[in-house]
Amino acid sequence: MTDIDPTTAPTTAPTTASTTASTTAPKPRVLSCIQPTGDLHLGNYLGALRNWVNGQHSSDAFHGVVDLHALTVTDTPGQVGAATLRTAAMLFAIGLDPEVATVFAQSHVPEHNQLGWVMECTVSYGELSRMTQFKDKSARREQDFISGGLFTYPALQAADILLYDTNHVPVGEDQRQHIEITRDAAVRFNHRFGDTFVIPEAVTPKAGARVMSLQDPGSKMSKSDDSDAGCVYLVDDANAVMKKFKRAVTDSDTGADAVRFDRENKPGVSNLLEIHAAVTDRTPEAVADEYEQYGALKVATGEAVLAVLDPIRVRYAELMEDRGELARLLRVGAGRAREVAAATVERAYANIGMLPA
Ligand code: TRP
Repeated sequence: MTDIDPTTAPTTAPTTASTTASTTAPKPRVLSCIQPTGDLHLGNYLGALRNWVNGQHSSDAFHGVVDLHALTVTDTPGQVGAATLRTAAMLFAIGLDPEVATVFAQSHVPEHNQLGWVMECTVSYGELSRMTQFKDKSARREQDFISGGLFTYPALQAADILLYDTNHVPVGEDQRQHIEITRDAAVRFNHRFGDTFVIPEAVTPKAGARVMSLQDPGSKMSKSDDSDAGCVYLVDDANAVMKKFKRAVTDSDTGADAVRFDRENKPGVSNLLEIHAAVTDRTPEAVADEYEQYGALKVATGEAVLAVLDPIRVRYAELMEDRGELARLLRVGAGRAREVAAATVERAYANIGMLPA
């Protein structure tokens, strides 16, 4: 078996795959997935999730809550399922329309496991060893259990993407290498077994806001903050949100232009301005023009954020009260996902020449 060099291989969609799938859909198929690893926060929303909502009409959008990926680091019974439910409820609460976008839990679509194995056999040990995310994550878990799944994770991610004849995968810098290995695997498979997969492309989403911790504006807002004070969760009630903004770190400068957008010299103030601008669809500079004092800026930013989060929190609570409806929505999503995914697995098996059952 000779493999062509994937870096020089053609990267256009293979003809058989495109006639069976992508040319029938006028809109590009877009896939983004999220791990169910905890409560979503304002940084997730303004940085990425809001783009999912805004993009759902202009693309054929598929969104997976990738619970199988979360198993790479899970050892507590009950955790993954509960987090999957909360994450899915939040995706609907922020405005993904189940009639428009296909939202599903990865484990409800067993084709991910099926194609995942095929992809494990399509990527090489060497390629997996070069993944910086594996090196980082395994280094951070040095005393902990490092599962084989943490190592083969990119093969499952490749399956996630290739199953849906995906054209575009909007990702941040940290995921680019995973898209590259997916493309290499797809090209290699197509070369070995005939045109099967659409070759996906990483796209840089319209820049979302860069939301930093309210307590440590030098680092991204994240749930791993030492205290929760720097991180605004989408489920935080109004009191908690206002408290976090009022306590946001700024600086001691009291000059006439103390409120200005200057990330380098005024990281805390600039973070507030960027958040405020993102939720009111303005530029940080325009927001800065309106305020002279930190206190007023903090309160106004908290209020502007609440105007966006209040309805989300209400819808989220309603959905979490109605588990039957949530389960139904996820069944609808999984049904639509399986239609596409099953056809892809069938095509891959047939092209490999697996013995038909
Ligand atoms: N690895 C991604 C992350 O950690 C999650 C993910 C899994 C994903 N499968 C995907 C993202 C497919 C895009 C497409 O964020």
